[in-house]
Amino acid sequence: MRDGINEKYIDEEKQGEALHLAEPEKEGLKKLYLESYGCQMNFADSEIVASILLKNGYTTTQQMEDADAIFINTCAIRDNAEQRVRARLKNFKPLKDKKPELVIGVLGCMAERLKKRFLDEEKLVDIVAGPDAYRDLPNLISEAESGQRSVNVFLSREETYADISPVRLDGNGISAFITIMRGCDNMCSFCVVPYTRGRERSRDMQSIIAEARDLFEKGYREVTLLGQNVDSYKWKNAGEENVISFAKLLEQVALIHPDLRVRFSTSHPKDITEEVMQVMVAHENICNYIHLPVQSGNSRILEIMNRTYDREWYLNRINMIKSYVPNIGLSTDIIAGFCSETEEEHQDTMKLMNEVVFDYAYMFIYSERPGTPASKNYADDVPEDVKSRRLQEIITLQRDHSLQRNQQDIGKTFKVLVEGYSKRSDEMFKGRNDQNKMIIFPKGNFKKGDYVNVVVKECNSATLHGEVISA
Ligand code: SAH
Ligand code: SF4
Ligand code: F3S
Repeated sequence: MRDGINEKYIDEEKQGEALHLAEPEKEGLKKLYLESYGCQMNFADSEIVASILLKNGYTTTQQMEDADAIFINTCAIRDNAEQRVRARLKNFKPLKDKKPELVIGVLGCMAERLKKRFLDEEKLVDIVAGPDAYRDLPNLISEAESGQRSVNVFLSREETYADISPVRLDGNGISAFITIMRGCDNMCSFCVVPYTRGRERSRDMQSIIAEARDLFEKGYREVTLLGQNVDSYKWKNAGEENVISFAKLLEQVALIHPDLRVRFSTSHPKDITEEVMQVMVAHENICNYIHLPVQSGNSRILEIMNRTYDREWYLNRINMIKSYVPNIGLSTDIIAGFCSETEEEHQDTMKLMNEVVFDYAYMFIYSERPGTPASKNYADDVPEDVKSRRLQEIITLQRDHSLQRNQQDIGKTFKVLVEGYSKRSDEMFKGRNDQNKMIIFPKGNFKKGDYVNVVVKECNSATLHGEVISA
């Protein structure tokens, strides 16, 4: 369970891990050591970065001591995400001292937020590149090699990297992310993303389908379509009148092959449509799982968060979703201790959790981000100890709910996609069911990428354990 420190969706153990190619390092190429922090979209961007640099004479390495370039793809969502990057940069200092020609680049959301200030504040950094500037990296590297420190934080209204096929880093060869849109226009008052990733834009539908098909042909069996707000995906093919909605895109991806599972993230409660649910119902390979961030269960707080829905609207959307798929897997994001949140308003969040009973939640303490509407308009006035206590209460309640929801699965059989060995044992495989729950089971004669039917025997709040009954 996340504790408010970790970023969402990406396993804690992957944060900051060296991302590398599956094939062995090639001789004679320059070596890139690449680390990523933050959300799935940042990890997907790292695959774009690697793809661009691979075409420019680089290979990846897991040994930072061997690197010619160290790139760190950063997150700015909460202060602790940034502190972590600052601490990490200190570890690179001895390497740079030993090898002054080593190029150190900071990419991603924190680079975009701090811009040139990064160069002033962190003397060892040579390159600062924002999320829309990755095509420029080869130039920025050349400049750095000639001794010039440089910044490109230009935010684009068009860039979607549609034509760049990402190299897959560190993957299991079974599931992959596909970015379908970039940026965000929602302006939730607490959130830095609209400033670090710029305006919302959708990626060419054909390039998304082609990428998904290519993955399937390479043996992948699951794709997750990514965007800050996937429901507002829109694309118009040249010469055609009709606008392609997210529901249409989802359907097209699902039609590639029945053995290709399709997931998506993130949905916004204000935009999720019945059309999406109808498409989900119509296609068995679209997973019955929705991540629908609520942030707070209190309507006044939601209003000052500028989420543009209230408590009733959110609960109504949950009912709509369940009316289509009663056994849907549901997860959410919750912020504890937003500006001026009272004890009763915090209780409203807990009550909403009790009404919905989410399978899973990502829970955070409110962290004021410079430049956001909340930082300008509202005082960050809930004392730290109160914020922590509220977060703890939310986490405890969620743990209880996750356990409850998992216990309801005991005795049920699920179709599971085998993702690989479980963390703890070579005799066990892990894989997720349709509702996104991780199930551990004896590996038998199965292999990665197989679909197996697993009956759940026992559980804790985080995982289900079961046995394969048939393939
Ligand atoms: N577009 C995604 C959000 C990405 S940010 C969405 O709407 O779900 C992921 C989560 O981080 C948010 O849902 C929110 O719960 C949390 N978050 C964002 N800004 C925050 C802040 N300033 N302090 C604490 N949590 C924050
Ligand atoms: Fe941030 Fe809101 Fe956009 Fe999500 S929808 S990225 S929380 S502004
Ligand atoms: Fe993602 Fe963090 Fe940026 S959550 S969009 S990497 S601020």
